Amino acid sequence: MSTWDELKQECLSCQACELCKTRTQVVFGVGNPEAEVLFIGEAPGKNEDEQGEPFVGRGGKLLDDMLAMIGLQRENIYITNSVKCRPPENRDPLNTEKDACRGYLRRQVKLMRPKIIVCLGRISAMELIREDFKISQEHGQFFDKNGTLMMALYHPAALLRDPRKKPETFEDLKQLQMKIQEICTRTPLIFE
Ligand code: URA
Repeated sequence: MSTWDELKQECLSCQACELCKTRTQVVFGVGNPEAEVLFIGEAPGKNEDEQGEPFVGRGGKLLDDMLAMIGLQRENIYITNSVKCRPPENRDPLNTEKDACRGYLRRQVKLMRPKIIVCLGRISAMELIREDFKISQEHGQFFDKNGTLMMALYHPAALLRDPRKKPETFEDLKQLQMKIQEICTRTPLIFE
């Protein structure tokens, strides 16, 4: 099995799908690779492609606010996407692109062995939890997959589009916070 750094180097020079031709840079992830909690979004957007970091645009600011509400900071978790390169015009990633990229996320999860995986949005939940995952019905619920707890939140971009979903998301975040307090031992919750 390769190390985290080897995996990262391999990913940064990946040419397994057509997205390598249009990307500015690969967005591998940010945070602590030894964290107990892993957040997984869909794919980088324009800002992420330019800066090389996940969730740095408007949605990223909202994600940071959501994390802050429950005492989480980027350096105490890890954040990545199921597809590491930006699909042009922010279209949904194609199946061929998801297939080409799946191994990187699998290997990240295998190396990290997180206690909790939080899927941001439907696409990520369909990739990680269940192919027919229904985000509007199943957000906030925990699913045990081979000893790893997984849950999905509405994607920050969906919350920006429809702020009426924010109160339910706040409830989901409180459940997540409780679960972290229950099962994580190395995840500080810091309130400023
Ligand atoms: N949306 C995502 O799913 N991931 C990002 O990194 C940015 C926006």
